[in-house]
Amino acid sequence: MLVAPSILSADFLRLGQEVESICQSGADFLHIDVMDGHFVPNLTFGMPIITQVARASSIPLDVHLMVERVEWFVEYFLPLQPEFISVHIEAVAHLHRLISHIRSKGVRPAVVLNPHTSEESLRYILPDVDMVLLMSVNPGFGGQKFISSVLEKARRLKDLIEAKNPRCLIEVDGGVNADNIHDLRAAGVDIVVAGSYVFGSKNYAKAIASLKVDSTPESSLES
Ligand code: DX5
Ligand code: ZN
Repeated sequence: MLVAPSILSADFLRLGQEVESICQSGADFLHIDVMDGHFVPNLTFGMPIITQVARASSIPLDVHLMVERVEWFVEYFLPLQPEFISVHIEAVAHLHRLISHIRSKGVRPAVVLNPHTSEESLRYILPDVDMVLLMSVNPGFGGQKFISSVLEKARRLKDLIEAKNPRCLIEVDGGVNADNIHDLRAAGVDIVVAGSYVFGSKNYAKAIASLKVDSTPESSLES
């Protein structure tokens, strides 16, 4: 399991140190939650902050755009060359065009589904993306409760991925912690985002290690 801590839960007054600690604690990606106050009822950070975070980070960025006017925001993030740019299927009219554009600029495109959006909506875009991000909370805030229907969605998505694009990764975002990580792994999830669980812990390395499960214990296979 790969782990992408979300800096939304970091101490913003010590952001440089927080980024450094995460990079030294075994994280695989730095998850950047971009909110515009329109697509979601919250605002986070803009380019001056993210540009500095990108410079300070020794691990690749995983940019999650929770915005309207997605095409406009994508242009700002492409020059930072993150590993992934994830765009919500609910926010984009011409998804295939945008995905192709992101890939043409050397960034791996990903599509995000809100909790109520079916994996079936991905059928004709799956061959073109490198990752699907499944929201396990309603986007907008850190520290919310995990919506467990994402487990069934991940299992169904895994079947679709096997048929359409076996190299596509599944990422889950929201309410991830040591209690649900084995179920997520068993459902076929490859990457988890974790905000409050990691930043709320005393020891980031230990918290991240507790999410890096490789195999599934018997108990969660049986349930
Ligand atoms: C929610 C964000 C998440 C959030 C996760 O809108 O997309 O990335 O920061 O935070 P936790 O892990 O606290 O649910
Ligand atoms: Zn996110």
